[in-house]
Amino acid sequence: MAMNRCRICDGDVVEFFDFGRQPISDAFLEPGHVDDEFFFRLAIGICRFCTMVQLLEEVPRDRMFHQDYPYRSSESTFMRKHFEQVARRFLETELTGQDSFVVEIGSNDGVMLRTVSEAGVRHLGVDPSGGAADAAAASGIRVRTDFFEESSATDIRARDGAADVIFSANTTSHIAYVDSVFRGVDALLADNGVFVFEERYLADILASSAFDQIYDEHFYLFSVRSVRNLAGRFGFQLVDAEHVPVHGGAIRYTIARPGQRTQTPAIAEFLAREEAAGLTDPATFERFATDVRTIRGDLMELLRRLRADGRTVVGYGATAKSATAVNYCGITEELVSFVCDSTPAKQGKLMPGSHIPVRPPSAFGDPYPDYALLFAWNHADEIMIKEREFRESGGRWILYVPEMHIV
Ligand code: SAH
Ligand code: TMP
Ligand code: ZN
Repeated sequence: MAMNRCRICDGDVVEFFDFGRQPISDAFLEPGHVDDEFFFRLAIGICRFCTMVQLLEEVPRDRMFHQDYPYRSSESTFMRKHFEQVARRFLETELTGQDSFVVEIGSNDGVMLRTVSEAGVRHLGVDPSGGAADAAAASGIRVRTDFFEESSATDIRARDGAADVIFSANTTSHIAYVDSVFRGVDALLADNGVFVFEERYLADILASSAFDQIYDEHFYLFSVRSVRNLAGRFGFQLVDAEHVPVHGGAIRYTIARPGQRTQTPAIAEFLAREEAAGLTDPATFERFATDVRTIRGDLMELLRRLRADGRTVVGYGATAKSATAVNYCGITEELVSFVCDSTPAKQGKLMPGSHIPVRPPSAFGDPYPDYALLFAWNHADEIMIKEREFRESGGRWILYVPEMHIV
């Protein structure tokens, strides 16, 4: 078997899970237009040298991020509040100068920059997904519909000057060409500026067997150790890491030029914890693989039994994650008749791969099903409060991480 090469350091990448042929996770289909669907091999491994966990096959970026990319960050009230807090913190700490400037990579519909813009602080959102960028622009945010990389970053520097903060959430890990992102940050960041990004945390994904966090857009799964190595490779220093309770567990990394900031003790603490948790240990990945197969077996057994018993089941949250959950487990429209989602651009479409229909949340209680499979488990609190009548009327939620269970 040919060895896979690390996208960052060219080291050997050891595969630890193969999900097989998978579609583009956010490529919802128009009914009647399902013929030329794109598939790729979704497999993941860890670099023996720099420890970066990464996909083995890369989907071309324009196939994922374009005018019709449907994801809108602002669909979640919890995430809106989270990013408002992120923005407020920057406004109080890093953006206090006369003419401070913040750039966001992957600004989507403006969920974070809205607060910055309202405060009258100079900013620029960069996002290649035109529909999302248009939504941000409509709320008064300055955006550039483009991929952030070395060339666009150099151009931004020439036009707008150096950035005091470069922020990114759930985007840096989406960019296979992350070397170009770091060279871009080098071109754009002020001498004493910070590059701050939040990303789902490998340790949390492994600990909760959250296999559905693995899909085309999540090219890398970061750890403090792999990000420290990544930053160092491009002449930066990882100066802080903070755990944030979003999307099932994430880390907010702060990166600066060497000597500009003092490294907090958090880095050493995380590194020690990652070592103790065996985050680069083959046995950890073997355990993950076994747990994922158990989840698939348990979930499919339940869904088949419910169908045999004449129970109705619908899905909740046509998440990108659900593409992996549905297509890897083999869930079909016979088992889950449709999936509710609040995103207008997903409603009336078909889920990638499985072609299960997506309906608005109004279809949920019309009438309520016996069971709802919660694909948006990271938004469980928000959704269960919103849909509390479902449980009150006798409905039950099915969750599949950290293991299959019914609540
Ligand atoms: N920051 C938001 C959006 C995350 S979704 C949040 O946390 O909710 C990922 C976003 O990254 C998408 O809007 C996608 O269009 C954008 N993206 C992908 N590649 C990018 C790149 N090279 N530069 C900037 N944005 C990118
Ligand atoms: P995410 O897990 O990638 O953030 O995606 C969440 C999906 O769930 C997104 O398509 C929006 C949808 N959603 C609802 O349908 N109702 C809700 O209350 C929330 C919070 C999300
Ligand atoms: Zn590597």
